[in-house]
Amino acid sequence: MADKKNILITGGAGFIGSHVVRLFVRKYPQYRVLNLDSLTYAGNLENLHDVEHEPNYKFIKGNILDLELLNSIFSEYPVQGVIHLAAESHVDRSIHNPDEFAMTNIIGTIRLLKAAHSAWHGKMNGKMFYHISTDEVYGSINDGYFTEETPIDPRSPYSASKASSDHFVQAFGNSYGLPTLISRCSNNYGPYQFPEKLIPLMINNMVHSKPLPVYGKGENVRDWLFVEDHASAIDAIFHKGKAGEVFNIGGNNEWKNIDLIKLLCTIVDQKLGREEGTAMKLITYVTDRPGHDLRYAIDASKVISETGWRPETDFAQGLEKTVSWYLSNQDWLSHVTSGEYLKYYDKMYVNR
Ligand code: NAD
Ligand code: TYD
Repeated sequence: MADKKNILITGGAGFIGSHVVRLFVRKYPQYRVLNLDSLTYAGNLENLHDVEHEPNYKFIKGNILDLELLNSIFSEYPVQGVIHLAAESHVDRSIHNPDEFAMTNIIGTIRLLKAAHSAWHGKMNGKMFYHISTDEVYGSINDGYFTEETPIDPRSPYSASKASSDHFVQAFGNSYGLPTLISRCSNNYGPYQFPEKLIPLMINNMVHSKPLPVYGKGENVRDWLFVEDHASAIDAIFHKGKAGEVFNIGGNNEWKNIDLIKLLCTIVDQKLGREEGTAMKLITYVTDRPGHDLRYAIDASKVISETGWRPETDFAQGLEKTVSWYLSNQDWLSHVTSGEYLKYYDKMYVNR
C-alpha cells in the first residue's frame, strides 16, 4: 500500500466522522483512511463495524492534544490531507464545562495545525488541512440567512471554541501558507448520533415513555441536514475547494423545535403501533437553555455552485430512516449510554 494517499480523519468514531470515514473508505480504495479518535463518550467504534476490516482503513486511538503522537503519525504515513472533525460538540455540555471545549476544540486544533505545518513545511503542494466547523459560529439570525461573509459572532462556549479554531486555521493559512479549507454546516441528523442531541434524545425518550424536554417555548429554529448529505458535501469540498476558502453547508430545511418534535411523535407512534397521541402526551416544557440561539439558517448557494454538491435526502424520508434506525438499534443505544461501547475497542482492536 506504499503508493496510497494517506488521509487523516480526526473524530472518525463520532457521529458525522463515522459517516465521512465510511464514505471515504468505500469510495476511494486508492486512499488509506487513518481514523484518529480518543474515544470519548461520543466516540464509538461500533459506528464503523461495517468498514473496520477494509484494507484501506486504519484506526489509531489517540488524542489530538498529543503533539508527539501527531508528529509520529504525520511522519510514519506520511499524511497528505487532514479532515478534522474531532471536537467536543454539545452546546449544553459546553455551558457546564467550557474549559474542556477550549482544550479540545482550540488547543487540539492548534496542535493538529502545528503537526501538519511541521510535516508539510516547504512541500505544501497537494496538501490540504480541512476543518469541519459549524454554522453556530455566526451566532443567531432572526431573518435572512448566514452567508460566508456573515460576521463571526459566537454566543455559546461551544460556538466560541469552534469560531476560535476557525480563526487559528485561517491564521495558519495566512502566516505559514498552510493550505486550508473550512466548512460550516447546519444541524445534522441521522444514524449514530449520540442520544444527547435533540432528535435521538427525543426518539429514545419516546421509546421508553420518558418526558420529552422542550427547552423554553420550543420556538427555536434549526436547519436540518441528513448526515450522509453532510458527508458528501465534505467529499466535494475536500476534492474541489480551493485553499483558503470557506463554505457554508445546509439543507434549506428550517424547523421550529416543537413542530419537529410533534412530527417525530407521530412517526414513532406509527412505527411502534401505539395509539395516535401517545408520544405527544410526553411533551414537557422545561427551563430554557441559557443564551439559547433563536435561529440558524444557512445560505448554501456557494457550495452548490462551486462544487456541484446538492442535498439528496428529502426530510420526510431521512427522518423516517433515522427513526427506523434508532428503533432497530436499541443495543447500540444501550451501549453508548452505558459505557459498554468501550469493550468493543478492547475486543476488536486491543487483542488483535
Ligand atoms: P461527536 O461528538 O459525535 O463526535 C466527536 C468525535 O471526536 C468523537 O468520536 C470523540 O471521541 C472525538 N474526540 C473528541 N475529543 C477528542 C480528542 N481530544 N482527540 C481525538 N478525538 C476526540 O461530534 P459530531 O456531531 O460528529 O461533530 C463532528 C464535527 O462536526 C465537530 O467538529 C462539530 O463541531 C462539527 N459539526 C457538527 C454538527 C452537528 O450537527 N452535529 C454540525 C456542524 C458541525
Ligand atoms: P441540539 O441537538 O443540542 O443542537 P444545537 O443546540 O447545537 O442546535 O439542540 C437542537 C435544538 O433543540 C436546540 O434549539 C435546543 C433544543 N433542545 C431541546 O429543546 N430539548 C433537548 O432536550 C435538547 C437536547 C435540545
